[in-house]
Amino acid sequence: MSASDPGAAPVLTVEHLTVRSPTRTILSDVSLEFADKEVTGIIGPSGCGKTTFIRTLNRMIDTSPGLRVEGSVRYRGQDIYGRGVNPVLVRQRIGMVFQRPTVFPMSIYENVAFGLRLLRTEEETVESVVRRSLTRAGLWNEIGSNLDQPALELSGGQQQRLCIARALAIEPKVLLFDEPTSSLDPIAAQKVEELFGELKKDYAVIIVTHNLQQAARVASRTAFLYQGRLIESGPTEALFERPKESLTQQYITGRFG
Ligand SMILES: Nc1ncnc2c1ncn2[C@@H]1O[C@H](COP(=O)(O)OP(=O)(O)OP(=O)(O)O)[C@@H](O)[C@H]1O
Ligand SMILES: [Mg+2]
Repeated sequence: MSASDPGAAPVLTVEHLTVRSPTRTILSDVSLEFADKEVTGIIGPSGCGKTTFIRTLNRMIDTSPGLRVEGSVRYRGQDIYGRGVNPVLVRQRIGMVFQRPTVFPMSIYENVAFGLRLLRTEEETVESVVRRSLTRAGLWNEIGSNLDQPALELSGGQQQRLCIARALAIEPKVLLFDEPTSSLDPIAAQKVEELFGELKKDYAVIIVTHNLQQAARVASRTAFLYQGRLIESGPTEALFERPKESLTQQYITGRFG
């Protein structure tokens, strides 16, 4: 099912989301729903608020103390900003992969096992989860026999897929990606991009991208942000071929940013 199917309950529901810094409003009254088992692309020019937006979706934004969040983000009906909600548990359900690979200076195995160690998972389970996560991230065949190797010795593209494996290991339901291929060479980027088709079989996937062709290739729905506002969202093909708003039309035809 997808968000376009009537009756499909969204995984994440964003309502009237506003984010302010002490000096200005970064996001204004954004409302948007995300469906399970679907890739949603977030596009828009530099500085429009894409990273800020995606960081509100799992409370990563809490780590920017100067920013104030208003409105709501509901995960399966529960407001993740509600009283008593533990942000660590939110991030366990809603994982994130960043623009640059964030591998830790430890072995490949321990990088993937990192979150499981915090959860005090027993070793036998850790071993099978590491293997499964590396397989799902398309890395097992490449590095499965070198699990003790320092992760920092991997190529940039392998490091990014390792970060995806680490995110998968704690069994999230939603995966957030902020420009996951922009620091990679085209071949490494393509390998990461190919994973999205697989990942959407099991997760809701939300991906910020500067690359409109990438959005067109991987996302079944796309949202266009401009100057902190959601201008338009809908099925990707419709948004690119028959945009309703002239700002969307201008952006996708390369007339700004
Ligand atoms: N912690 C912060 N404090 C104050 N302002 C911030 C903070 N984080 C982001 N901003 C501002 O919010 C605006 C949106 O930034 P954001 O990083 O979300 O944009 P973006 O769309 O991801 O841009 P890019 O495509 O360049 O990554 C920018 O003007 C930025 O300076
Ligand atoms: Mg950004």
